Amino acid sequence: MKDYTQAIEIAKNLHWIGMYLPNDPFQCHPYFIENGKNSVLVDPGSMLEFEAVVKKINSISSMHHIKYIILHHQDPDVAASIADMEKLIQRDDLQIITHSRMVPLVKHYLIQSLYYEVDKNDYRLQQDGLDLEFFSTPYCHSPGAFVTYMPNNKTLLSGDIFGGIEESWEFYAKEDYFEKAKQFHAEYMPSRDIFNYALNQIERLDLELIAPQHGSIIQKKYIANLIEQMKNLECGLYIKEDYRDKLIGTIEELKKKDIELNASLNDIKEKEKLLFHKAKMADMGVMIGNIAHQWRQPLALNNTIISILREKNIRKLLDAKELDTKLQEMEESIQYMSDTIDDFMHFYNPSKKKLLFNVVESVQESLKITQPMLQQIEVKLHFSHTDTFYIQGYKNEYTQVLVSILTNAKDILLLRKIPSPYIQINIYETKEHHIVVEISDNAGGIEEGCITRIFDPYFTTKHQSVGTGLGLYISQMIVEKNMQGILTATNTTEGALFSIIMRKNHDQ
Ligand SMILES: [Fe+2]
Ligand SMILES: [Fe+2]
Repeated sequence: MKDYTQAIEIAKNLHWIGMYLPNDPFQCHPYFIENGKNSVLVDPGSMLEFEAVVKKINSISSMHHIKYIILHHQDPDVAASIADMEKLIQRDDLQIITHSRMVPLVKHYLIQSLYYEVDKNDYRLQQDGLDLEFFSTPYCHSPGAFVTYMPNNKTLLSGDIFGGIEESWEFYAKEDYFEKAKQFHAEYMPSRDIFNYALNQIERLDLELIAPQHGSIIQKKYIANLIEQMKNLECGLYIKEDYRDKLIGTIEELKKKDIELNASLNDIKEKEKLLFHKAKMADMGVMIGNIAHQWRQPLALNNTIISILREKNIRKLLDAKELDTKLQEMEESIQYMSDTIDDFMHFYNPSKKKLLFNVVESVQESLKITQPMLQQIEVKLHFSHTDTFYIQGYKNEYTQVLVSILTNAKDILLLRKIPSPYIQINIYETKEHHIVVEISDNAGGIEEGCITRIFDPYFTTKHQSVGTGLGLYISQMIVEKNMQGILTATNTTEGALFSIIMRKNHDQ
């Protein structure tokens, strides 16, 4: 039979210094970590046990040897005696070890000392020959609750967790301890999930002993089983049936909404895929149109040459020299046709990686592709540049954006039958080191109220046969999502103005 009027060493340098309160089923246990002049007082308790606790500390050490006081949470049964403890300790370097969430509460006990906030110190204290690890057990049962692990003796100082309510108090827990501890946990731990989070932290530790602030001290042989039983305990909100039913209802509803949301997200993804596919097809259409346009002349030329050669051959008028010249002409125009295909194929190939490139070159390439169309309806181009403006990005995609904007401008100039149509391209660098390419026209501008919608998929002011609006939608995606730039549209006095704004590459 142990003498509970004395301090009891429960592990190396760790002493129980509580006081048995007869007929109180809710016993409170302070502990003392003996460490010379840098000792630690754990959960000092209330004024009910104050005298006995001080007496026990003085029997193994001295109040003046306490350098740290751990407060695992802020309840009065843990901390109400703290101001009076401070007065007896009388040390300027005394520190209160607690969680920062507890500080605004425990200061009401008139604490004078400094705080050592575990959450701001990597949940560890390794100084003065001490090695303490702290584990956050939020809402069990206080928002800042934590537990303390002593690696040197494998003991867990667990605060309210594993506390028991016992009609007849036993110093060491027996096999039936869960029965004595379950009511307190069911009532004080907010929910099974939250309690399990704390238990999972504790379960990972190499444990010889658990010393809770209430109930009995738990030895190794009972620990694993006790944790297992605690894990399955319904707690807090869940112990009341109507709460539980409501909660389960809410969870079910949330699950259902989640499933619905996922389904609609998949729908959106499918639509986006389709859009890209359509855009690709529209691009192909434009490409074939352009190739056809560029081929018309050389094809006609070859056709004429063949007719002439055949005619002369029939009349035996063909001499070797002329044949050679004509064949050379044909060869050149076929080469031109082949180059056209190469140009377009190259341009429509997606860029593999972000590269440093000169936007002036990109503009020139986009003009090479669109110029035949522009010439066809006599659009004047105002663009000349000798400078270089380097940006980092996907060059071919950037050029495609330019082609899209130019094609768009051309379509509207044609649709609105603008006399003396023109497109102007400006490139400049801003003070903030952005490279801006501006493409403007004199087609009358974007209609009032449409300016915010022109980048929407399927938005188009053109006739159905002219476009689908995909070009601008995809262009904005390319500039803003893939290259972190900005693509905007505004109106000038004469027409629309598209700006592509990209960050300058500073390596240049
Ligand atoms: Fe408590
Ligand atoms: Fe407590």
